[in-house]
Amino acid sequence: MNTANDLVARGAQRHKQGKVQEAEGLYRRALKLNPNHPDAHNLLSVALRARGAVAEALAASTRAVALAPGHPLMLANHGAALAEAGQLPEAITAMQQCLALAPGDATTWRNLGQALAAAGRPADAVGPLTTATQLAPAMAEAWLALAHAQRESGNAFAARAPAARALELSGRDKGMAEQARFLLAALGEAETPDRAPAAYVRQLFDTFAPRFDAELEGKLDYRTPALLAEALLAAGIPAEGVLDVLDLGCGTGLSGVALAPFARRLEGVDLSPRMLEAARARNLYAALHEMDLLAFLPRKPAAWDIIAAADVLNYLGDLAPVLAAMRAALRPGGTIAFSLETGEAVPFALGEGMRYRHNPAHVLGLAEAAGLNLLAQTPVTLRQERGQPVAGALLLLRC
Ligand SMILES: C[S@@+](CC[C@H](N)C(=O)[O-])C[C@H]1O[C@@H](n2cnc3c(N)ncnc32)[C@H](O)[C@@H]1O
Repeated sequence: MNTANDLVARGAQRHKQGKVQEAEGLYRRALKLNPNHPDAHNLLSVALRARGAVAEALAASTRAVALAPGHPLMLANHGAALAEAGQLPEAITAMQQCLALAPGDATTWRNLGQALAAAGRPADAVGPLTTATQLAPAMAEAWLALAHAQRESGNAFAARAPAARALELSGRDKGMAEQARFLLAALGEAETPDRAPAAYVRQLFDTFAPRFDAELEGKLDYRTPALLAEALLAAGIPAEGVLDVLDLGCGTGLSGVALAPFARRLEGVDLSPRMLEAARARNLYAALHEMDLLAFLPRKPAAWDIIAAADVLNYLGDLAPVLAAMRAALRPGGTIAFSLETGEAVPFALGEGMRYRHNPAHVLGLAEAAGLNLLAQTPVTLRQERGQPVAGALLLLRC
C-alpha cells in the first residue's frame, strides 16, 4: 500500500532524476492522503517553482513552513519562492532565518545575496555571496552574482576576478559563459559583443520587475516615454487613437502609457516574462509577445504606423540589424521613435552600467543605409544613475 510517506519518497526520487512532472503528481497524491504533510508541500513548492508556477509554489512553501516551523530546508525553499514572487524583504528574512540554523547552506547564501542585490542593496549582497563562493567554490552562478554585486556597488575593479572565475567555471553552460564574458567586456576585460545576451536581459528585468516602476519614476526620474510622446506630437503625429503602434521592449508598460493616446491598436514585445506580467496588468495592450524584438519584427512586415523603443536599444550594440528590421515592419509613412544613450565612440561602446552607448551621427548613417530619414533629433537627459544625469538623444525616423 502507498502511504503518504512512500509517495513523497518516490516523488523525491523522480525529482532527483529530473522527472519533475512525475514528482509533482506523486506529491499531490501524497497530499490527498495527508493534507498536512510538510515535506510534500515543501517538495511540491520546489517542483512548481521549476516550472514557473510562482504563486502556487509560494502557497505550497507557505503551507510547509506553517506545518514545520523552524525547519531550515523549508525556510530556504520558502525564501526562494518569496524571492521568485518578488517579495524581497520577506524572502531576505526567511533566508536569514534559514542561515541562522544552517550556516553551511551555500545555495541559500547565494540566494540571499541575489535577493539583496535585487532589492537594490548590492553592497549588502557582497558578504553573503562571498560566503557562498567560499562554501561552494565551483558554483559559477555565485561568482557571477558576486561580480555583479561588486560592480553595482561601484567596485568595478573587485568585480573582475569573480567574473573571470565564473567564466572559468562555466564549462558547458554556454549561457553562463556568455553572461560572464558580457560582464568582463563591460569591465573592459573582454571584447565587446554586438548585443547584450538575451538571457542576461531577461534575468536582469525579471529580477527588477517588482520595483521597476517605483524606482524609475521615483529616484531615477525616468522621463523617456513622456519625452518620446512629446517628440511625436511635436512632429505632427496625432494623439487621436488612430494608429497601429508597436512598443519594442515594452517592459512594465510605462512606455505603453505614453504611446496609448496615439494607438488604435497597441502591441508590446519584451524578453522578460515578469515585465510583461506587469504590462498585462495595465490592460493597455491588445497583444503582448514574449520574444526578442529582432525575432518579432520580421513577423509582421509593413504593419505599424509607429514603432517605438524607449530605453531599449541600449541593450543592443550594432544597431544596423534592428534599424533594417524596423524599416521593413513600418507601414509607408510610418514613424520610428527611440531613445539612445549617447557617447562619442563609434560604432558603439559598452559602459560599466552594462548598457551600450551610441554616437547619434553614426546611428543616422546606419538609418540612412536602411532607407530611413531623420524627422527629429532631440538631446535629452534620460534618467539619473548614481546621482548623475544619463545623456541621451531621441530620434524620430521615417522612410
Ligand atoms: C529599461 S526597460 C524599458 C521598458 C519600457 N520601454 C519603458 O520605457 O518603461 C528595457 C526593456 O527592454 C527589454 N529588452 C531589452 N532588449 C530586448 C530585446 N532584444 N528584445 C526584447 N526586449 C528587450 C527588457 O526586457 C526591458 O523590459
